[in-house]
Amino acid sequence: MELHITCIPGDGIGPEIVTEAKKVLDKVAEKYGHNMIYTDILMGGASIDVHGVPLTDEAIETAKAADAVLMGSIGGNTTTSPWYQLPPNLRPEAGLLKIRKALNLFANLRPAVLYDELAAACPLKEEISKAGFDMMIMRELTGGLYFGERKTIEENGVRKAIDTLTYDENEIRRIAIKGFDIAMKRKKKVTSVDKANVLDSSRLWRKVVEEVAKDYPEVTLEHMLVDNCAMQLVKDPSQFDVILTENMFGDILSDEASMVTGSIGMLASASLNDTRFGLYEPSHGSAPDIAGKNIANPIATILSAAMMLRYTFDLDQEAAAVEAAVEAVLKEGYRTIDIMSEGCEQVSCSVMGDLLAEKIR
Ligand code: IPM
Ligand code: MG
Repeated sequence: MELHITCIPGDGIGPEIVTEAKKVLDKVAEKYGHNMIYTDILMGGASIDVHGVPLTDEAIETAKAADAVLMGSIGGNTTTSPWYQLPPNLRPEAGLLKIRKALNLFANLRPAVLYDELAAACPLKEEISKAGFDMMIMRELTGGLYFGERKTIEENGVRKAIDTLTYDENEIRRIAIKGFDIAMKRKKKVTSVDKANVLDSSRLWRKVVEEVAKDYPEVTLEHMLVDNCAMQLVKDPSQFDVILTENMFGDILSDEASMVTGSIGMLASASLNDTRFGLYEPSHGSAPDIAGKNIANPIATILSAAMMLRYTFDLDQEAAAVEAAVEAVLKEGYRTIDIMSEGCEQVSCSVMGDLLAEKIR
């Protein structure tokens, strides 16, 4: 099979981790008889430096022509990098928002899993973490506060900023359907998270989610207010299967959920549209402080590549081979510095990539 993949190395540790992901994908191609065809595009600071904008229209066209996009990370240090002296619509993050919108990537899947081998890194008390957890945050990605009208004005000498939170029922329905579909393949539970005690957009969210739920009688649906959900994630994360929520809440809760695993360097993500196309990226950021040092953890990006094999290319066996390689290497005690613990062997980003590629069966 020919796999046309657009790569976005991006900024910070992005180029290093994408290199390792390609290493593993190339090994998959060799073992399973596929052909990986990569095309790189610039996005974020890397694009600003060359083109003056965080994402060009040509780059979007290149991405659209591929089957999937594999991304590292974008952005720099927000207090010291000159990229953040630019107007907001020209900063690195604007490139990411632009590609999400241009490719209609409305469904963001962020798994948060407690790995047995890394349980010691979980910051929760053992009495809580021993129950384990494995949840999927389904975040709406192209609506809400991120894409509503915004402006900053001055009224009678007083500066005023306005952001608007809008959702129509179609936007809610399509992400809810994805959420229930995913729940059907998991533990069949959806926790829909909103702020329906305050926001109209949340009250509509709840209604539409309930309508969609009627088509999934096997799935248990519960509603939870976002503040309570933030609390429950540290109190008893084992209660969650699929968390279905809007853009801004999902941004915040997915960071919290990943922190609770103790190993954000391990967490993958996928952003999908209505077709098989997807953009795959680690859940973590560009970590500019450790860029270029060959110490970043490439596993989140490699597991994102596994999600790509599964969701875009339907290559379940190949995806499982990548996941099994990760498990095997962790079992053997190899760790990058972020997940290092006593008795293990610390390895660099590129050595971790080598070890994982070797383990592809
Ligand atoms: C994320 C990031 C982005 C977001 C930023 C970089 C714009 O935090 O993917 O979660 O807020 O969506
Ligand atoms: Mg975020």
